[in-house]
Amino acid sequence: MTTLLEPAFAKVNLTLDVLGRRPDGYHDLRSVFQTVSVRDDLALDIGTGKPWRLQCSKEGIPCDERNLAWKAAKLFCELAKVEPEGLEIRITKRIPSEAGLGGGSADAAAVLRALNRHYGSPFSVGALAEIGAQVGSDVPFCVLGGTAMVEGRGERLRPLPPIPECFFVICKPDFSSSTPELYRQLDAQPIACRPDHRAMEAAILAGDLAAITRSVRNVFDDVVSAAHPEVGGIKSVFRTYGGMCAELTGSGSAIFTIVPSFEYAAVICDMLRGQYSNLFIGKSV
Ligand code: C5P
Repeated sequence: MTTLLEPAFAKVNLTLDVLGRRPDGYHDLRSVFQTVSVRDDLALDIGTGKPWRLQCSKEGIPCDERNLAWKAAKLFCELAKVEPEGLEIRITKRIPSEAGLGGGSADAAAVLRALNRHYGSPFSVGALAEIGAQVGSDVPFCVLGGTAMVEGRGERLRPLPPIPECFFVICKPDFSSSTPELYRQLDAQPIACRPDHRAMEAAILAGDLAAITRSVRNVFDDVVSAAHPEVGGIKSVFRTYGGMCAELTGSGSAIFTIVPSFEYAAVICDMLRGQYSNLFIGKSV
């Protein structure tokens, strides 16, 4: 039996624009994704000689073929025509679910990367990302990681240069939002303030952190903030203690800020700890 270890990093959306509804009912997006060092850890036992099994350190996560990590493993084995003769996936979960941090997708991407490496890289990174697209919309980006412009449903990726070193503080309030419902709300009303992708790309290319943070914008932020006033409270703590931006990631409910040093991040966490337990500090990866 061989054990493979693989980290699975969370993502935040530095920008997120919803462009329109497609004939298949999904929406086309344009978004700058950024990997952050908040992580799950995966261990894969190959050749257990037993039926497939998935274990997760956190309760409430499906531990069968509904889990994206399981789906990714199954699809990889089919397409690579390999038979692991028993597979156990163990997930040490830290990335909160229903947060917009892509935790399930990160786990699936980690499985794809680990299996691809184990079986002698039958797929290029691009091919692996295409396989990931069949598992979930955020999986292709999670296969690639770093900083990237993401379009379509998530399958079109254009890598961007890494952003300057900085720290992310992420706060996940207890509420969660229904993603389909949020898309319905966006369809029903004109979007008042969209991200300026030209400005964001120029800021990233220039390595200008202040300009990057000025261009942070997510169109889901207004609808989620309007429904949940506590988002405003978290943002105001971010801003008061040196946060350079304050925005929702994905369809929420996690909110993030960017700060120039760990000291700022630690102070912000101190200020929120009394009210919120799901607090994370990460760096860009
Ligand atoms: O990707 P996820 O499973 O989180 O999507 C949940 C729902 O959000 C989809 O069933 C769809 O209604 C909506 N969605 C969308 N366009 C996307 C992604 C999700 O309309 N690009």
